[in-house]
Amino acid sequence: MKILCIETTCDETAAAVVTDDLQVLGSVVSSQEQLHQKFSGVVPEIAARAHVQRILPVIDETLNKSGVQLSDLDAIAVANTPGLSGSLLVGLVAAKALCLAYDLPLIAINHLHAHVYACQLESPSPVFPCVGLIVSGGHTHLYSYRDALTSCYLGGTIDDAAGEAFDKVASMLGLSYPGGPSISKAAIAGDPGAYRFPRSFIHEDRLDFSFSGLKTAVRYAIGGPGSGDVSNIELSDQQIADLSASFQQAVVDCLVSKSLQAIEQTNLTNLCVGGGVAANQLLRAKLQQRCDEKQVSLFIAPLKYCTDNAVMGAIAIERYKAGLFETLELDIKPGLVRH
Ligand code: KG4
Ligand code: ZN
Repeated sequence: MKILCIETTCDETAAAVVTDDLQVLGSVVSSQEQLHQKFSGVVPEIAARAHVQRILPVIDETLNKSGVQLSDLDAIAVANTPGLSGSLLVGLVAAKALCLAYDLPLIAINHLHAHVYACQLESPSPVFPCVGLIVSGGHTHLYSYRDALTSCYLGGTIDDAAGEAFDKVASMLGLSYPGGPSISKAAIAGDPGAYRFPRSFIHEDRLDFSFSGLKTAVRYAIGGPGSGDVSNIELSDQQIADLSASFQQAVVDCLVSKSLQAIEQTNLTNLCVGGGVAANQLLRAKLQQRCDEKQVSLFIAPLKYCTDNAVMGAIAIERYKAGLFETLELDIKPGLVRH
């Protein structure tokens, strides 16, 4: 069985052909990083327009790489939730058009559950049931999964996503977008104990996150006038390194501690972590250390499948097997669906 998966929830235009034994026949990701760089974040209107320009070439290239024709496919799958409305619409319309033209079934992908499913892609053993942490530019949420398709929302950020905090703090420190990789790089020369930043809810039972206070704390630590532009405040390389390391440590402490709390509260023994921030090396190392101590089996998405891609859309295989198909009435759901 071969499924074409399409991903346009945010700022990557991506497609992949995957098989029912989780082989990746071809995968293409066209990143819009450069388009959004000067805004230090994703501009929805620009993202949607870029998807329109790129979606057909990306699908063509994916099929070529896969050695597959549209008529060889068994279904088309598309991420229709959650994400930016304009971006989601482009992928959905492309998927529907192909389904109509080639008389193929349509499968809906939940982008968040796909991030967790990325952990299954190269794992020799089943990762479900598990606690899933999705930690990306737009999301920071914990779910419990009975299987790939049955989940329960445990908690999540009440304000910014962790990745968004990385991006905003990087911008305050004059580091490049996306902020995650540039903060990690700057943090190497820094002292994670140089600044004592807040770790919201860390001593509470609730499985939620909050990163806006942390962002504000970094802003105050930078100094200068309380409001307005920070770009003309001079910081030494050491200050930038220390601020980066201390900020990164605070985010990682929150993510690790809430994930382990979720494991304790659910009595599950597998932890799966996906999303762009799961590429963070400190997070990966700390999670491994704490999971080893607690005898929890940790599955982190392979690095190449942490940030947005269409291969993780292989969760569509599970829906195909369960007979979960959509009509051409399928709509986008930009907001978070808590199941
Ligand atoms: O999953 P993703 O590609 O897009 C969303 O669905 O949001 O995640 C992008 C986010 C960005 O905020 C970026 O700064 C963050 O992932 N990121 C990282 C790292 N690499 C990417 N954050 C921390 N450390 C990294 N190494
Ligand atoms: Zn994502």
